[in-house]
Amino acid sequence: MSELRTIIITGANSGLGFEVAKKIALNKAYRIILACRNLEKAELAKKNIIKETQNTNIECIKLDTSSLRSVEEFVLEFEKTNDSLYGLINNAGISGMHQGKSIDGVEIVMATNYLGHWYLTNLLLEKYNIKKIFNITSDMHNPPQGLKWQNVEDIFYSDNSDRTAYPYSKLSNIYFTNELQERLDKENKDTLVNSFNPGMMQTNFAGGPLPKSRIIFVKTMMPDRFGDLDKSSTALSSLVLDDSLNVKAKYFDRSINYIKSSPLSYEIKNQKELWDYTDNFIKEWKKK
Ligand SMILES: NC(=O)c1ccc[n+]([C@@H]2O[C@H](COP(=O)([O-])OP(=O)(O)OC[C@H]3O[C@@H](n4cnc5c(N)ncnc54)[C@H](OP(=O)(O)O)[C@@H]3O)[C@@H](O)[C@H]2O)c1
Repeated sequence: MSELRTIIITGANSGLGFEVAKKIALNKAYRIILACRNLEKAELAKKNIIKETQNTNIECIKLDTSSLRSVEEFVLEFEKTNDSLYGLINNAGISGMHQGKSIDGVEIVMATNYLGHWYLTNLLLEKYNIKKIFNITSDMHNPPQGLKWQNVEDIFYSDNSDRTAYPYSKLSNIYFTNELQERLDKENKDTLVNSFNPGMMQTNFAGGPLPKSRIIFVKTMMPDRFGDLDKSSTALSSLVLDDSLNVKAKYFDRSINYIKSSPLSYEIKNQKELWDYTDNFIKEWKKK
């Protein structure tokens, strides 16, 4: 390979993003951009990745996915590297325990997990011919208690008092994957866009280690929701590194195998409504 392949990973200083960055970096043909909101944490992650992989092509660029301005600033900074862009992993995320509004006035879980990634991806696609995009979703796009689609405006502006923001954000990531793939196909682009569910893992996601009782409960009662950080990061990095991958708009489930996501996630009307609303939201935001 004559040129290094650059991969952007959002939220790469911890958990899944960090492990995937490390596993990809073991291959010296890859250069990783750690797109993180906290540059101190990012620099520490960079140091650790270089130490463990001996790959020095690791760079940190500030990105707060909950802020559309930060997304624009990130893209401007990335352009300065003069890299081409091989892959994008939209991984950064917060759990449904958060409440509040983003700087742009949107429910914070939806803004962080979905909206910022939508804008980031579309801005990058204006300038780069990205080969692979992975949107990190969750089996919680289909929560055990069920989920009904409501109008997008209500989802964007909810107060999350019913704790549905996380399932909506992860369902939105799947709609985003599928709609984006359809649009890129129409433009005859060769980009592959897929969703990846890592399963429930021990990371910083829950704000600390999961209680043993919860792990045992999920393992026994909902084994199809139980994940493993090492297995999921190995699978995701393999998908990124696999040159023969030719799969699109699929839902990879904790492995290199894809399955069907929830029936709701294939509702084309919702998928289109979400895309149009988001597109319009960003156009209006730009006018301000
Ligand atoms: N852990 C699970 O059980 C589980 C299950 C299914 C899906 N997932 C998904 O897996 C992905 C990774 O989560 P994880 O488990 O690895 O959790 P994690 O260890 O908490 O990592 C999340 C990463 O996202 C970053 N982040 C959060 N808000 C951000 C923002 N506004 N801008 C930029 N970065 C931001 C965090 O940065 P800071 O360090 O600065 O907070 C951190 O680097 C998420 O999309 C999550 O929804 C996780």
